[in-house]
Parts: sequence; C-alpha cells; structure tokens
Amino acid sequence: MRVLSGVQPSGTLHIGNYFGAIRQFIELQEQHECFYFLADYHALTTVQDPGRLRGLVGDLAAAFLAFGLDPIRSVLYRQSDIPEITELNWYLSTVTSMGLLQRCHSFKDKVGQGMVPNHGLFAYPVLMAADILIVKSDMVPVGKDQKQHLEVTRDIAGAFHATYGDEVFTLPKPMILDRVAVVPGIDGRKMSKSYGNTIDIFGPEKPIRKAIMSITTDSTPVEEPKPNEDSTLYQLAKVFAPKGEEAWVEKAFREGGTGYGTIKKQVFEWFIETFGPARERFDQMKSDPGAVEEVLVDGAGRAREAIAPLMDNVRRAVGIR
Ligand code: ADP
Ligand code: TRP
Repeated sequence: MRVLSGVQPSGTLHIGNYFGAIRQFIELQEQHECFYFLADYHALTTVQDPGRLRGLVGDLAAAFLAFGLDPIRSVLYRQSDIPEITELNWYLSTVTSMGLLQRCHSFKDKVGQGMVPNHGLFAYPVLMAADILIVKSDMVPVGKDQKQHLEVTRDIAGAFHATYGDEVFTLPKPMILDRVAVVPGIDGRKMSKSYGNTIDIFGPEKPIRKAIMSITTDSTPVEEPKPNEDSTLYQLAKVFAPKGEEAWVEKAFREGGTGYGTIKKQVFEWFIETFGPARERFDQMKSDPGAVEEVLVDGAGRAREAIAPLMDNVRRAVGIR
C-alpha cells in the first residue's frame, strides 16, 4: 500500500501534531511505501513572513528525521519542489464546485474566528487533493480534523472521473488513530498553535515545563479524589503515560492524596522520557542544515519520478496533451 501525508510548516510542532499525526507516519514506514511532505504552499495561506517560513520548513524537516523517519525507506520532500502539484491543482480546481469548498468546516471555522480569508485559504482543499491524488496514495493518515478534507479529495477525484470519463486517480482512504484522536491543549480546548495552548516538543525545557504546570485543573483539594471526566490533566496524563503507567494515573485521580502539582510533575518527566532522544537528534540535525537539504532534494527527485506517469495520463485526459 502507498501511504501519503503532509504537515504544514506553519508553527512550532506540538504534542498534538506528534500523537495525532507524526507518530503514525513513522510507524507506517515499517510496512508501507510512504511519501511524506512539508506543505509549504499550504502554510502560505497563514504564514506570510519569508524568514519565518524558511525557518519553519527547516525545523519541520529536522523534526521528521529526529522522530525516526528513514529517508531511504520513505520519500520526504518539500511540496514547493514539485511543480506538478500546482499544475494538477489547476486541473482539479476546474472540476471542483464552489459549494463543495463553501461547506468545509476548516474554512468556516477560520472565518468564524475572524480571519479575513484569502482565496488560497478557500481553495486549500483543492491543493490538498492534488497532493494526495498525485502520488496515487491508498491511505492518508491524519488527525480527525482533516477527515472532511479527505472526503473532499474523494469528491474531487470523482468529479474529475465523471467529467472526463477516465478513471486516472486512486481514491484514498483516511486513517485516523482513534485512541488519541484529538489531544487537548493546556486550557482544555483542542491543542492548536492558533489557540496558544500547546505543549511544544522542541526548544528549551523551561517554557515546556511551564506549559505543563499550567494545565487547567479545578480546585479539588489534594486529599480528595479528583473527577477525571472532562479533566484536561487526566486526558493529557493518559496521553503521556508509558505502557503500564496508566494505572498510576487512574489511581492518582481515584484515591485522593496526590495533588494536581504532583501529577503535572510526573507528566513533565514522562514528556522528557518520551521526547528526550528526539530532542537531541533534532539539535544535531539543526547543526547540519546541508544534510537535511540533501534529503529533501533527493526526496523531490524520487517523488517526481513516481508521479510522472499519472501526470501524463491527467494531461491526456483533459486534452492539454
Ligand atoms: P494546529 O492545529 O496546531 O494548527 P496543524 O493543523 O498544523 O496543527 O496539524 C498538523 C497535523 O497534526 C494534522 O494532521 C492534525 O490533524 C494533527 N493535529 C493537530 N492538532 C492536533 C490535536 N490537538 N490532536 C490530534 N491531532 C492534531
Ligand atoms: N491540511 C493538512 C493539515 O493541516 C496538511 C496537508 C496538506 C495534508 N496536504 C496534505 C495532509 C495532504 C495529508 C495529505 O494538517
């Protein structure tokens, strides 16, 4: 099976990104042919500061490698290194109805939050369909919030097939990890860089510790049992607890005697246990940007080779060739 997914270099990586997405990417490379890319064109719909974008792209590539992406086994590339993606984006946009895009939650949410939408943000799902369809991926691992975009991808592929009577695309399936489908942020809403409620993975320890120590809790006294329903700390502690330690979390909430502060300190220790090795590798990668660039250039070459036959078929189907 061919697997594809992308991550936008639009902010500092947080644990929601890892547990909800990147961890699965790394695991999948053991059994499948994987294509992973840095969605820098998508990031332009929100990041419009060139220095910052460059920095975020470098960080994201280093992060993938630090988490264990094997650049020989898997193909890692930058979206903007593949001109065929924007070409396919255009063909797809001409078979995509406005209504389909107007129904997208992600677009409606951003507008609802007061963002003044640009056309890129509106057309975002079409570019995403191009990313996915171009490599003929069978499976697309993503967080729950991206599920609708995959349905849109299937609809767009269907519209293309119906328009041209030529089944050039493979319809991809979403793959959602239910166990940690949505990681809550420290304030209890969905963890997201746009809410400023994240626990970041890389960077200095101090602000990370501070974020964990400020996870919202209620005012139950230390000696009393603590409600775990709707508790953000409970959910986050369960996300971090290593195998076999979930029982410790259960007990700390159920029995009383363990204060929220103690639980948070444990969560911080588990954070360091979980991410310490990747944090070290990330720093090594960052000190050798040439090596990271080499991986991306090699990945782009391999990706372009893989997509060439499909692009021939698409151009022929629409009559451009
Ligand atoms: P953000 O919400 O911080 O802007 P992105 O939209 O860039 O994050 O998400 C990148 C990937 O990480 C996506 O696949 C998304 O589904 C996943 N993801 C982001 N936040 C979470 C979360 N809180 N829980 C689970 N998965 C998440
Ligand atoms: N929209 C995705 C996100 O915000 C990123 C993305 C862009 C993507 N193109 C993709 C994910 C193709 C999977 C497949 O997370």
